[in-house]
Amino acid sequence: SFTSPSSPPVPPPQPSLQPNSLSSNATDAKLPPSVFTLPQTAQLEALYTIIRDKETSRGDFLFYSDRIIRLLVEEGLNHLPVIQKSVVTPTGATYDGVGFEGKICGVSILRAGEAMEAGLREVCRSVRIGKILIQRDEETAQPKLFYSKFPQDIAKRYVLLLDPMLATGGSAMKAVDVLMEHGVPEDRIIFINLISSPEGLKNFCGRFPRLKVITGWIDQGLNEKAYIIPGLGDFGERRYCE
Ligand code: URA
Repeated sequence: SFTSPSSPPVPPPQPSLQPNSLSSNATDAKLPPSVFTLPQTAQLEALYTIIRDKETSRGDFLFYSDRIIRLLVEEGLNHLPVIQKSVVTPTGATYDGVGFEGKICGVSILRAGEAMEAGLREVCRSVRIGKILIQRDEETAQPKLFYSKFPQDIAKRYVLLLDPMLATGGSAMKAVDVLMEHGVPEDRIIFINLISSPEGLKNFCGRFPRLKVITGWIDQGLNEKAYIIPGLGDFGERRYCE
C-alpha cells in the first residue's frame, strides 16, 4: 500500500527467524561429522513449510520441492574434489582456478528418488544416471534389491545417491551395499536427501562413516508406520498423485 509523503518511513520487515536459529539445529551437536545440512535460513524453512502443508497443491509441491532439490544438488557438488586449473581470459590474462576432478553419476532410489533426477540434470548437463529399486522382502522383512541399472564404469565415478526421505535408512543402506558390490568405494558416494530422521542418520552413518550425507532438514523422528514426523507424508504420493 502507498504511504502519504508526510508518513514516517516504514522500516523493512524483520525476518521472524534469524538464520541458524531454527529448532532442527538443536540436534547439530550430536550429528555425525559426515552429515551436512543446508544453511537453516528462514527462506529454506519457508520452502519446507510449503511442501509439508497437506493443503499444498501438487503443482506447488513440485515447484517448491524442486527448489530445495536444486539447493541440495549444488551443496552435494561442493563436496567433490577439484584440481588446479589455469585458463586464459579474453583480456589475455591467466586465471589460476580449479576444475572438477573425476566424473560423477547420479543413482536414484526408485521411485521417489527419480523426482530428484531433473534437479541433478539441470545442474550437471548430460550427467549419467543409474537407478535402483529396493523393496521390502515380505518373507524376511528386510530390504531386497529388485532392479538396478548403472553406468558400466560406475566404479570409477563419484556417485550422488538420490532419495528424498531418509526414514529408517533400510533402503539407503541396501542401495549403498549394491553400489559397493559394483566397486564404488564408500567415500565416493554422497547421499542427498530432503528430510532425514535422527534414527535413519544414526543407522546409516554408523554403518557407512566415510560416506557424506547432505540433508536439507533433520526432523523429530518416526511414527509407528516409519513415516518421518512431522515430515511431509509420502513423498511419491505428493509428487506423482493428484
Ligand atoms: N518415505 C516417505 O515418502 N515419507 C516418509 O515419511 C518416510 C519415507
